[in-house]
Amino acid sequence: MRMVDLIEKKRDGKVLSKEELDFIIGGYTDGSIPDYQMSALLMAIFYQDMTDEEISHLTLAMANSGDIIDLSSIDGIKVDKHSTGGVGDTTTLVLAPLVASVGVPVAKMSGRGLGFTGGTLDKFESIPGFKIELSDQEFIDIVNKSKVAVIGQSGNLAPADKKLYALRDVTATVDSIPLIASSIMSKKIAAGADAIVLDVTTGDGAFMKDIEDAKRLAKTMVRIGKLAGRQTMAVISDMSEPLGEAIGNSLEIVEAIDTLKGNGPADLTEMCYVLGSQMVVLAKKAETLEEARGMLEEALHSGKALEKFREMVKDQGGDTSVIDQTEKILTAKYEIELPAKTSGYVTKLVANEIGIAAMLLGAGRKTKEDDIDHAVGIKLHKKIGDKVAVGESLLTIYSNSKEIDAVEKLLYQNIFIGDTPKEPILIHDIITE
Ligand code: URA
Ligand code: CA
Repeated sequence: MRMVDLIEKKRDGKVLSKEELDFIIGGYTDGSIPDYQMSALLMAIFYQDMTDEEISHLTLAMANSGDIIDLSSIDGIKVDKHSTGGVGDTTTLVLAPLVASVGVPVAKMSGRGLGFTGGTLDKFESIPGFKIELSDQEFIDIVNKSKVAVIGQSGNLAPADKKLYALRDVTATVDSIPLIASSIMSKKIAAGADAIVLDVTTGDGAFMKDIEDAKRLAKTMVRIGKLAGRQTMAVISDMSEPLGEAIGNSLEIVEAIDTLKGNGPADLTEMCYVLGSQMVVLAKKAETLEEARGMLEEALHSGKALEKFREMVKDQGGDTSVIDQTEKILTAKYEIELPAKTSGYVTKLVANEIGIAAMLLGAGRKTKEDDIDHAVGIKLHKKIGDKVAVGESLLTIYSNSKEIDAVEKLLYQNIFIGDTPKEPILIHDIITE
């Protein structure tokens, strides 16, 4: 087989076979296929698209390029959740203990944050002592005992995706549905999930700006999940504003704890019920989404979910006293309010730009090597639809520096206030098979 013939085949809109896709991914991972040929193929895929069969062959080839995590010694159906990109997305921190408290095993592998998206690992590490380096056996034992644990992603998970993603980034081929779908699903499959719940975000700052594109991506991932033998469901959610009120690592842990106490922001709480219900159904702990939601509401209101969080923190060596005294982890030196310059109704909070503002404060990484500051971030007081008066605080900036002019400017540029109230949208659609 020659790469040049396969590039030509895709360029002319023909379908690549499983053997051909295995050859391409194998060759690209081991370095025998150079970047310039892979770049040409990526651009051909971008223009010619792929069939569902092709995408599932590509996905499995990428999953098989590295370690495949074996979770079979954990009892029950393991359901993983993945968001295609959120800002201030605190759902995993709430969902892990919430669904575990109704008996769904959560064996979560998470990554660190990069750019304007935060990472679940960084957020958990805001809890003093919380340890995300567990041996495989410790991880499995904890999930079998307590139903929930979170660890750092194995270094050799879908290495083909790591290489391809970096190449796509510099060849203008990131926003291609077959390439995004295979990238996400290859990692989920390699991470060992039996079933997958996807949160496909849409709006400014999301990969899919357009709802129809987001639906097409969701349907594609649901179908390839099925072809790979992993039941998959997707929620199309709106990212016209960050989810919840907190953006930043410690702030989001506190937001998660508040939510588990039943005092969380309404949008975040609702999103956790919607995604959590899907997880409970896929894990076969309930027959219908309504029944699943009832179980989750009960777990939250009775305090069972919060107790599960406490157990999780304890299992992983964290200081559980912060659950009762959350102010202990809010240690930024300065809390600075951002007053509204005009009155009216909030119509838009550009999520990725607000994520960048939090990153500039030190909450996120510009490059993989950067250190982060867990204490800093942003807490929104006004969200889409809220009325504001001149001088009222739009948000609090938690900072360890007083030099925040650039951050304030960026925030003002990305918070829109208009004359007419606007209804916020949380969920556009739910895609099942
Ligand atoms: N997230 C991923 O992991 N891959 C993509 O291609 C896009 C979003
Ligand atoms: Ca949040």
